[in-house]
Amino acid sequence: MRQKPIYLDYAATTPLDPRARSRMLPFFDEAFGNPSSVHSWGQQAEAELEQARAQIAGYLGCESDELIFTSGGSESDNLALRGAAFAARNGRSANHILISPVEHPAVLETARQLQRLHGFQLEFLSVDEFGQVEPADLARRLRSDTAVVSVIYGNNEIGTLNPIAELGSLCRQAGIPFHTDALQAVAQLNLQVDELNVDLLSIGAHKFYGPKGVGALYVRRPTPMVPIQTGGSHERGRRAGTSNVPLIVGMNEALAVVVERRATDIQGFARLRDRIVEAVLGGIADAQLTGHPAERLPNHASFVFEGVDGNGLLAALDLAGFACSSASACKTGEPEPSEVLLAIGLDARLATSSLRVTVGRQTTPSEVEAFLTILPEAIARLRVVEPAFT
Ligand SMILES: Cc1ncc(COP(=O)(O)O)c(C=O)c1O
Repeated sequence: MRQKPIYLDYAATTPLDPRARSRMLPFFDEAFGNPSSVHSWGQQAEAELEQARAQIAGYLGCESDELIFTSGGSESDNLALRGAAFAARNGRSANHILISPVEHPAVLETARQLQRLHGFQLEFLSVDEFGQVEPADLARRLRSDTAVVSVIYGNNEIGTLNPIAELGSLCRQAGIPFHTDALQAVAQLNLQVDELNVDLLSIGAHKFYGPKGVGALYVRRPTPMVPIQTGGSHERGRRAGTSNVPLIVGMNEALAVVVERRATDIQGFARLRDRIVEAVLGGIADAQLTGHPAERLPNHASFVFEGVDGNGLLAALDLAGFACSSASACKTGEPEPSEVLLAIGLDARLATSSLRVTVGRQTTPSEVEAFLTILPEAIARLRVVEPAFT
């Protein structure tokens, strides 16, 4: 084991930015008020909450009242799908849900439950070998009774970017609400909701150097939404529960830092990613890049390796002091092949041989070089001791 482990799993989560951390601290201590309270503690908390909302809205190019704070990406995705689907059923008898087959489980499993328990008709868009949805396919499948469409922006497993603005424009013309899960995109891509033509967009702070357990859903006015968490009138009646002021303030500060340094960050990320891709494809036999070769998240490299068990590889890398991921952090440890990798046409065996390497602000070129020295050795050893794959 190396002295200092090297973290190459920024798609799973990112370390908290120090500025976000210091900004949050007073709200755990003296400024602990409930923003719904009438007294001065409450007023102070409410002022901070609304300032954070206005600033985040500014970064996304929307109005403050178009943002709903949530407990993170999963809740934002749940609220987007369920809220829009139930509202569309109530308002215009719409019963059809269209999603891509490469969604994060927060979207995929929500859509499946809407089908199983609530009788919605769920249809999957096609994706190509890179996991991209084609606008023409969406145009063919959109129906007047489509309740909501959801397509991921930057894929967490394979890094592929989807043509969100084009897809959104088709939905806009048809008058159908369009959601994108932008969790992986925030730290790296344009998030101007008007340019993306989205009606619903999910973000989660821990993917952009903010705290865990907080996120937001953008809901374009006047997209109909039914709350899925009922109770008090928080978030203008769209999401009940006392607002988590420290985490929301921290999320806002983390986003401020992202906006300041995004352009420089992504140049550095892309250089490291390109070095990883070039070295792996050039130096390891039977290695295959997954996802789009060019239209992908700047910090994201992902591969499959013929004859290698992905979980075994992760364990070997961990022992050598490198933290990576196989397909998706949420799936690590599950023996089943990734649904995303199956959807892009890999066979089940190859789909269990994946490795995801994602770089971030703390990654240095020498860390990447150290990783590129270890990886071929780890793979060669696994190929020798894994006769089950031959
Ligand atoms: C694309 C995507 N969507 C949704 C989520 C879920 O977000 P959270 O962990 O904030 O619930 C993740 C996190 O893994 C993700 O990568």
